[in-house]
Amino acid sequence: MWKHHAKFERHSMWLTIGVVIVVSIGGLIEIAPLFWVESTIEEVDGMRPYTPLEQVGRDIYVSEGCYSCHSQMIRPLRDEVERYGHYSLAAESMYDHPFQWGSKRTGPDLARVGGKYSNDWHVDHLNDPRSVVPESNMPPYRFLADQDLDPRAVRNQLRALLAVGVPYTAEQIENAETDLYAQVDPYASETSALRGRYGPNVVQGDFDGDPARLTKMDALIAYLQVLGTMVDFRTYQAEAPENLR
Ligand code: HEC
Repeated sequence: MWKHHAKFERHSMWLTIGVVIVVSIGGLIEIAPLFWVESTIEEVDGMRPYTPLEQVGRDIYVSEGCYSCHSQMIRPLRDEVERYGHYSLAAESMYDHPFQWGSKRTGPDLARVGGKYSNDWHVDHLNDPRSVVPESNMPPYRFLADQDLDPRAVRNQLRALLAVGVPYTAEQIENAETDLYAQVDPYASETSALRGRYGPNVVQGDFDGDPARLTKMDALIAYLQVLGTMVDFRTYQAEAPENLR
């Protein structure tokens, strides 16, 4: 055995061939089973597509490059789970196109930032991060409060997401513009049509502190406030191995 091993050690060609064979076997064992499973995403209660306002806010998040400083994936490691909460589930980003997992963390992970702060805190923080966190190096995004949201594109945005597999219904697409305005209605009722379409947990209200206008700030804060809140972890039962719980 060791005699033959010398062949691999002396001839780089044999070594390369040997490495390719060994890696291929490992690769086959890891990859082949995935061809026989229908989905690698475990279904989880509570997940729903984003409302039009949240979805538009998400697009602003992407276009402003927030991902260049913030990740949205809590790894199943003890320090992460203690700091940010339950580790992220695959299902939690199944309607994200593109997903925002990221790996750059100049700022903290935002996967569960929803509900952590009030809307007012977010307005202050986006206007001037250092007014609420003196040591922050996050840039201000004051201009978002001055820019009105253009509602015309939202219906087609939902259509595009439907084409890539997000299960928006015809009714949700039809009412996209109405729902966009309905979510910032500070006097919304518990039984609004928006909640009828997206579920009782949708947060409605004036997000940016200016009820007279629908701005980019409204949409971005609506998005931040829903992050990580769809799955109820008081009732969620993981199918993961014991050591990851
Ligand atoms: C240059 C890097 C950088 C960019 C770009 C950036 N942030 Fe931040 N962000 C930070 C840092 C650093 C912190 C931590 C200090 C603080 O709270 O301001 C932070 C904190 C936050 C927090 C509070 C998180 C918590 O759990 O306390 C939110 C929410 C947030 N950022 C949202 C955004 C959004 C939305 C954008 C894009 C519009 C953005 N950030 C862009 C660096 C950045």
